[in-house]
Amino acid sequence: MSANLEHGHNEGSVIQRLTAADRFGVLPKPDLTYTPEIERVTAPLYEKVKHHIPAIEWPVHAPYVYWINKLKKKRDAVILAHNYQTPEIYHCVSDFRGDSLQLAREAEKVEQEIIIQCGVHFMAETSKLLNEKKTVLIPDMRAGCSLAESITGADVRLLRERYPGVPIVTYVNTSADVKAESDICCTSSNAVRIVESFESDTVLLIPDEFLAQNVAKQTSKKILTWKGHCEVHERFTAEELLAYREADPEIQIIAHPECPPSVVEVADYTGSTAGMIEYARGRKPGAKVLLVTECSMASNIEKEAKGVEFIKPCNLCPHMKRITLPKILDSLLYMREEVHVDPTMAARARQAVERMVNLKAN
Ligand code: 13P
Ligand code: SF4
Repeated sequence: MSANLEHGHNEGSVIQRLTAADRFGVLPKPDLTYTPEIERVTAPLYEKVKHHIPAIEWPVHAPYVYWINKLKKKRDAVILAHNYQTPEIYHCVSDFRGDSLQLAREAEKVEQEIIIQCGVHFMAETSKLLNEKKTVLIPDMRAGCSLAESITGADVRLLRERYPGVPIVTYVNTSADVKAESDICCTSSNAVRIVESFESDTVLLIPDEFLAQNVAKQTSKKILTWKGHCEVHERFTAEELLAYREADPEIQIIAHPECPPSVVEVADYTGSTAGMIEYARGRKPGAKVLLVTECSMASNIEKEAKGVEFIKPCNLCPHMKRITLPKILDSLLYMREEVHVDPTMAARARQAVERMVNLKAN
């Protein structure tokens, strides 16, 4: 048993903790042959992704889809997937899908013992913060985020010293360490409302410089920020979007607020990934929509926005793409990789996330 013990830190003292594999046991690896039974059971799921996965590839994915769906019931696990996950994860194995705020809200409500977070590390950490007693697994611990990596808790403490009395709002795309030092969290769908919930004329909105600049245009508050960027959205340029518009003046451009302000200015609509889905759904059949965000979004929402033609000048998020069906199956079999947050830090970070989640009508 001792080989399976992990070391955890609790208020300075080293404690020993049983791993998730010790607590729940490991399962034998199933036979991943594409059998007639697997073909039959997964056929309705293939219908949902057939425009994105060629028929010749389905026999590779289908056994994983089949076994993940079977084993998540056996394990009493729920799969939460961000809108940037690949179509076979999004449509075929996830239980809940959404933007960062929707996933945080869902994480708070889940009844299952185990949460498998198909997204990046800060999302899994947020689920853990909201569900201290549940086991939260991420299929690849290396799934990071350029925004989360741009700032540390020590940086936030320095900002507080430098700007005494100025409220600190941190984007949910940050580590628990950073959340613990902030007054409240926000996501791209509620940032304006959260900034405006403070009486102070000046608010620190960190670490996404572009999100902060885009929010600053929608509020009278003075917004101070940090130099973090999303490596996916910072690469879009207004010039490329204007070239599309010149080619087709009817095109609707929808962009994520992590894009530079020059890109957002050209867009007809800007919003979180959930907001973008809602906007696309509201378009009439025949509309052409240019989606300025991560690649998988268009593939995932094509089914929901029937008749809308999507143009995809997309960039891949290498962190989101670390999550794959084989790694999700391994999570279920071997109960890995478990997300832990230091309890003292977690208590402070939780307050910041809960303040956000509890802010009504956002
Ligand atoms: P939302 O889904 O909250 O819009 O966030 C986008 C994103 O980049 C998440 O990493
Ligand atoms: Fe981070 Fe950008 Fe990837 Fe989202 S898309 S996880 S913000 S790097």
